[in-house]
Amino acid sequence: MALYSEKVMDHFRNPRNVGVIENADGIGEVGNAKCGDIMKMYLKIDNDIITDVKFETFGCGSAIASSSMATEMIKGKPLSEAMQLTNQAVAEALDGLPAHKIHCSVLAEEAIKSAIDDYNARKKAE
Ligand code: FES
Repeated sequence: MALYSEKVMDHFRNPRNVGVIENADGIGEVGNAKCGDIMKMYLKIDNDIITDVKFETFGCGSAIASSSMATEMIKGKPLSEAMQLTNQAVAEALDGLPAHKIHCSVLAEEAIKSAIDDYNARKKAE
């Protein structure tokens, strides 16, 4: 079996939703201390619905594929649903990741949660 599924390769080669959202409503940045990879997630939120999402990932191919897939999974979804997204769900949607690459999908889960936390903190401060 190939190390990476076709879906991983597809999202790595043609990542969806790459970029920056100017005036994002929530921004999350997380990193993995061991590999040094960094992921930044931008959310545009309207009425508790994620209307747009973009990411920048300075990291390995699995991290790029995971962020790409994760953004597709939360776009158009309510915040409550996006909060439930687990790294397992992202890895499953990619038809699996090698065991030593699971932490890359954790980065995607954490980046989304961190962006939602940022949005909630900003709302409280209003
Ligand atoms: Fe660190 Fe993939 S090797 S995120």
